[in-house]
Amino acid sequence: MGIFMRLIDYTEDKRLNDYSLFSATLALIFLALFLLLKKERSIHSSTKFPIAGIESPGYFGLVKAREKFISDAFHIVKSGYHKYRGKNFVVTTHNHDRVILTSGQVKELSSAPDDTVSFSHFIMETMMGPYTGLGRFSGTNYLAEVSRIKLTRKLGIIKEAVIEEARFALDTELPECTTDEWKSVEIFTTVLRTVARTSSRVFIGLPLCRNEDWLTVAMGFTGDLIITVNKLASTPKLIRPFYAWMFNSTKLISSHRRKAQTLLGPIIQRRFEEERLAEENGTIYEKPDDMLQWFIDRVEPRHKNTEDLSELQLLSGLASVHATSLSFTNALYDLAAHQECVQPIREEIEAVISENNGVIDRAALRKMRKTDSFFKESARGQLNVLTFGRKILKNVTLSDGTPLKQGTLVSAPVAMFSSDPDLLEDPETFDGFRWYKESLEAESRAAHNSGWTTTSAHYLTFGHGKHACPGRFFVTEEMKILLTFIILQYDIKYPEGQSRPANIQRGASLVPDPTQKLLFKKLPGPKKFSFL
Ligand code: HEM
Ligand SMILES: *[C@@H]1O[C@H](CO)[C@@H](O)[C@H](O)[C@H]1NC(C)=O
Ligand SMILES: *[C@@H]1O[C@H](CO)[C@@H](O)[C@H](O)[C@H]1NC(C)=O
Ligand SMILES: *[C@@H]1O[C@H](CO)[C@@H](O)[C@H](O)[C@H]1NC(C)=O
Repeated sequence: MGIFMRLIDYTEDKRLNDYSLFSATLALIFLALFLLLKKERSIHSSTKFPIAGIESPGYFGLVKAREKFISDAFHIVKSGYHKYRGKNFVVTTHNHDRVILTSGQVKELSSAPDDTVSFSHFIMETMMGPYTGLGRFSGTNYLAEVSRIKLTRKLGIIKEAVIEEARFALDTELPECTTDEWKSVEIFTTVLRTVARTSSRVFIGLPLCRNEDWLTVAMGFTGDLIITVNKLASTPKLIRPFYAWMFNSTKLISSHRRKAQTLLGPIIQRRFEEERLAEENGTIYEKPDDMLQWFIDRVEPRHKNTEDLSELQLLSGLASVHATSLSFTNALYDLAAHQECVQPIREEIEAVISENNGVIDRAALRKMRKTDSFFKESARGQLNVLTFGRKILKNVTLSDGTPLKQGTLVSAPVAMFSSDPDLLEDPETFDGFRWYKESLEAESRAAHNSGWTTTSAHYLTFGHGKHACPGRFFVTEEMKILLTFIILQYDIKYPEGQSRPANIQRGASLVPDPTQKLLFKKLPGPKKFSFL
């Protein structure tokens, strides 16, 4: 009995102990959760501006708004834009809040010094720099400089390579087409692979640009980076380092990095070797004209190694391949939907090249103004809800009196500006030649041109100001060349009963429906030009 009692006592005791341990743990968890939420909340309420998209009060309203931003950023920004017209408001996403700027503020900030208003810090923060390794070159500006100084100025020289690779890529990626049967084409994949090939030709040259492993890296790095960023972003900030470590969350992108180094390493080392030999022999080393070489020539000695040069290639792809293929896919979707634009564009391209003795050069590309207008219209409000991301590094007060505190992230509502009837006539209508007509009119007034590469404080597809996309001159020409090959050789249309699908929202990005197919048919008659 005694023993029995003691046993009961013991178990009772034990249970009691368990309970207290349990409740203590519970209390601790709650305390931790409370502190976490408080911290998270304070991270997110760093400005006094109203937050758009909040439907219920308190922390859970905030969580819901963040959740909703992933699937419906467009309407959140739109409702804020109209509700707080001409004023600032905040949108909240998983890992940060952003103050939405007015057009006047964009203009003011677009020329602000980098130590106050920073593009690279914005990228670092929103792309989880410390985890994804995107901060490797912070303090340098290699990619932007090389794009601005080399890529743009050498367009005349690299154009031959772009034409050759565009032809090869489309021949490889498009199915065999005939003049009497419509062939179904998976546009999204076809365009992505074609753009990856054509851009890679300029970035790393032959033969690697045709290597399937390289193409996998060139196409996959961006997507996997975004997946990684989204996973990390939806993890509360305080447990993020633990989460990243626990789930080895960067393994996807690390494997691309290793692959890139394996593929590029021998090429980089050979170039170093050839340069060294030429120097020793006193001969001249004929350098290749590609992005890789421009980086080799530009970087500081501490970055002149396989690891860093490979990383710069990945960053070039990150900045360009997806943006270009999304734009070009949009353009084809819009072209198939606006058949009335096909013939005028085709005629313009044919006329321009004929007048130029069958040769595409920069002057000819510049004369493709209807094509340019069509691209510009197609990109209007269809690529991003927000661009012009910046991080404020020092407390500033804008000229309209708006205070922006150090650490604030800001963005411009590009999709709203481009559909605002106050800023644009008849914004609801897709008019492929809207900008062409405007440029004719501007010409007659000798005013500012309205080509696609011209940015303004409310046409922000390429951003604006000192960090406006330096690849926009290249991309315009690359897309004109790709379209020349397609439109001079094929008719395109939607399958019976289908029409232009709406773009899909992914946070602040808008993505053309990757499942949509287009039908292609070869145009009758002989080749119009020998380069085709
Ligand atoms: C249609 C395709 C493209 C679109 C829509 C696009 C869009 C943009 C946008 C919105 C920005 C931010 C600008 C700002 O906030 O003011 C940007 C920056 C940048 N883009 Fe593009 N881009 C495209 C293609 C390219 C290509 C082909 C390259 C070539 C390498 C490139 C290289 C860059 C670089 C290096 C930056 C950063 C500029 C800086 O740090 O100052 N982009 N782009
Ligand atoms: C993460 O994954 C990569 C690739 O699978 C591997 O090489 C690396 O060792 C892993 N790191 C950790 C900390 O487990
Ligand atoms: C330089 O000289 C080495 C031998 O001294 C030779 O193998 C190499 O081909 C030469 N390179 C050039 C670029 O002249
Ligand atoms: C920036 O402004 C905030 C209050 O708005 C203030 O607490 C902070 O000290 C200021 N920072 C600097 C560096 O002046």
